[in-house]
Amino acid sequence: MNFYNQPIVLDNGSGNIRCGFSGDEKPRVSYSNIIGTPKYNKINYLPNSIKQNDTFVGNDAQINRGLLKLVYPIENGNIEDWNSMEIIWDKVLKHDLMKDNEINLNEHSILINDEIFTSNKQRETICQILFETFNIGAINLSISNLLSLYAMGKTTGVSVNIGDGICSIVNIFDGYILPNSLKRINLAGREITKLLKTEVTKNGYLMNSSSEFEIIRNLKERLCSVNMMENIENGSQSFPLPDGKKLNITNESLKKPCELLFNPISFGYEDNSIQELIYKSIINNDTELRFKLFNSIILSGGSTCFKNFGNRLIKEIRKIDNEIGFKIFASTERKNNCFIGGSIISSLSTFNNIVISRKEFNENPQCVYEKYY
Ligand SMILES: Nc1ncnc2c1ncn2[C@@H]1O[C@H](COP(=O)(O)OP(=O)(O)OP(=O)(O)O)[C@@H](O)[C@H]1O
Ligand SMILES: [Mg+2]
Repeated sequence: MNFYNQPIVLDNGSGNIRCGFSGDEKPRVSYSNIIGTPKYNKINYLPNSIKQNDTFVGNDAQINRGLLKLVYPIENGNIEDWNSMEIIWDKVLKHDLMKDNEINLNEHSILINDEIFTSNKQRETICQILFETFNIGAINLSISNLLSLYAMGKTTGVSVNIGDGICSIVNIFDGYILPNSLKRINLAGREITKLLKTEVTKNGYLMNSSSEFEIIRNLKERLCSVNMMENIENGSQSFPLPDGKKLNITNESLKKPCELLFNPISFGYEDNSIQELIYKSIINNDTELRFKLFNSIILSGGSTCFKNFGNRLIKEIRKIDNEIGFKIFASTERKNNCFIGGSIISSLSTFNNIVISRKEFNENPQCVYEKYY
């Protein structure tokens, strides 16, 4: 089957949703994968743009967040609130992708990101909604880590993706996914924000609402960094709050949350650290393959953007094995890597061969994962 219109590319992340067309260098739509509903009673005789039953999506939700209860429909890569997810997809696909110009989704195929170890039920439900509610022409699910690797122009490498809800590692060799190398833990940016929230409380600020959680996320992105020293230096930093006041927080509190990835046990999590996951994922492969893999470790996802992240990772891998050589790559565009890889793959002439049509899906819904996993 041929779809003449440009394929749509959708990176539906736990924290952010990014969407555009194949061939785009960066997403046309990129905002928090979030929905907000007013939490106060409206005095209904006053004219105002906000109505009681309004829902706000993405940037609109962020702008009005003080009045809203905010919900992320995806937690750790699992879609927990399908109604909210549909509202967000509606806004992204029907309103924002073409800036309110009508788009006939039936004439487009869509490439959507897929995470390793996602339930097959979720994969099927995603496809069912996209076909039945959105009338999409055809669908391809592609593993985020593979897309992120392609974004770097590589077909061999260790693709490490740390986003908001998932930290995952996939080794790929000449385009083959190495099944023994797959690693996923559900510790990523949102858990780091939660740890920072505890630190903020210890520094004397009680910030409990969903909109205040977003302030703490902004604080994290602006001031948190990965510790490189034995002893954290004293001192503190300040962060402007929307009410005009300043939040003062110690350097120790700003460094501690990132330790989650390098030392999860110290926070009570039994998961492996990021350095152990990477090392084990490579060592699990055939000896013949390891050299190239060690020399092509690719970082992507927003939570690899902390200052000193790469340097600390080098230090920690050396602690595990100081004999092996390895190289770590991190592009400045790494937050968008998954989208960019999707944009590249979907513009290949062979893309039409790897999409699933509605007819194929209706005949055998399992074909969405049977074909590729
Ligand atoms: N400069 C930064 N420093 C540290 N963290 C950052 C930075 N920018 C973004 N982040 C964090 O990265 C996470 C979002 O990354 P990304 O958009 O890759 O995740 P996602 O694709 O939405 O989620 P996932 O892939 O886990 O489902 C958030 O936790 C965000 O706070
Ligand atoms: Mg992601």
